[in-house]
Amino acid sequence: MKSISVNNLYINAENTLPFVTESEINALKKETERCYKELVNLSGKGNDFLGWLDLPSDMEKGELKAIEEAAHYLRRKSDVIVVTGIGGSYLGARAVIEALQHSFKYMLKKKESLPHVVFAGQNMGEDYLSDLLEVLEDKKFSVIVISKSGTTTEPAIAFRLLKNLAEKKFGKEVAANRIAAITDKSRGALKKLADKEGYKTFVIPDDVGGRYSVLSAVGLLPIACRGFNVKDLIKGAEDMETILKGKEKFEENPAMLYAALRNLLYRKGKTTEILTSFSPQLYYFIEWWKQLYGESEGKDGKGIFPAGTIFSTDLHSMGQFIQDGTRNIFETNIWVKKSGKKLLIPKDEMNLDELNYIAGKNINFVNEKAMLGTMQAHKDGGVPSITIEIPALNEKVLGGLIYFFEFACAVSGYMLGVNPFDQPGVEAYKKNMFKLLGK
Ligand code: PA5
Repeated sequence: MKSISVNNLYINAENTLPFVTESEINALKKETERCYKELVNLSGKGNDFLGWLDLPSDMEKGELKAIEEAAHYLRRKSDVIVVTGIGGSYLGARAVIEALQHSFKYMLKKKESLPHVVFAGQNMGEDYLSDLLEVLEDKKFSVIVISKSGTTTEPAIAFRLLKNLAEKKFGKEVAANRIAAITDKSRGALKKLADKEGYKTFVIPDDVGGRYSVLSAVGLLPIACRGFNVKDLIKGAEDMETILKGKEKFEENPAMLYAALRNLLYRKGKTTEILTSFSPQLYYFIEWWKQLYGESEGKDGKGIFPAGTIFSTDLHSMGQFIQDGTRNIFETNIWVKKSGKKLLIPKDEMNLDELNYIAGKNINFVNEKAMLGTMQAHKDGGVPSITIEIPALNEKVLGGLIYFFEFACAVSGYMLGVNPFDQPGVEAYKKNMFKLLGK
């Protein structure tokens, strides 16, 4: 069993052979199906954090309309919307927005009617925040502040600065109409503040952890503010939800195959997984995936280290190591079959760069050959790879891909024997920081 195709997603394990054998993959059937059942029957570790499993189908029925309305309201009022959050409270939104928006949006000749969506609270860079405040001075801006706990230092600092600027610029009452808060339904400082100031509020459900929250208001409100179709995103995720929950057999379920392959490779010493793509728009999607897998699996002295690259860019920086360095790596390659636009390589009379042999071909044709050549070279060099092919980059496909990776992460974490839904290790730096700050 080397490949599985479902709606908008094709997974191919051809390049993991001969590092693993078909019989080794098949031998994991029982274990993988047991972990799958623990997940869908809600009987595994951390089962009080499984609300994300039903988010797409729940969202269809409920909150989506209110999210779209709030986005419409903020869009009308703003040149810039600042999304303030960190980790799971920002990466998912950024992943989808960067995957879908124009790569040079700030330089487009025609001024966009949509506001720019920018991010704060994901760092404590004094220069970054100062630069942001400087550009916001003369802009009509709004803020979406996102924190499940409502107490995280980075977004709290950024929000305090943004709130001050908004109140100074627009007055307290108008500023409050330009702020939306997404937080816990009852706990935390942000909830208290939002109630006191009368901000528009959305709730992060108790049973949805930060890194599994992109298909809730956490991801959907910023994505809708940037003008993308959140209905389609949810539809794609819901289709994937139906498929993955419905396919109980190992041979038919792509999430089970991905979970099994990565655990098998890990058990054979491949302790680093590089998620790569030949589509640069997926840079932040890969960042989102790194958090999802890193925080879910890296615990109890175990876990695959999740790394990320964009090819062919990083073949010119990381290519040497991947081809020839420590042999503990495997790759998962998200291949986007069809680019959104078409661009042909021009013919040149002088042909000094000797590119005429590919003149008339479109760029993605060349990119595909680079991908096939790279994966073969890496395999020859001792790096197995899993290919995940998607037809194109659009809301529906991304919704499906998000749900696929979340579902597979949970099954994979159970196979590893950890609780994929807690993150006790994240507290260590905070304790030290607070002590040093004299809190
Ligand atoms: O996945 C997680 O739980 C974390 O990455 C959190 O999202 C991150 O630490 C931010 O937390 P909060 O939303 O409580 O501010």
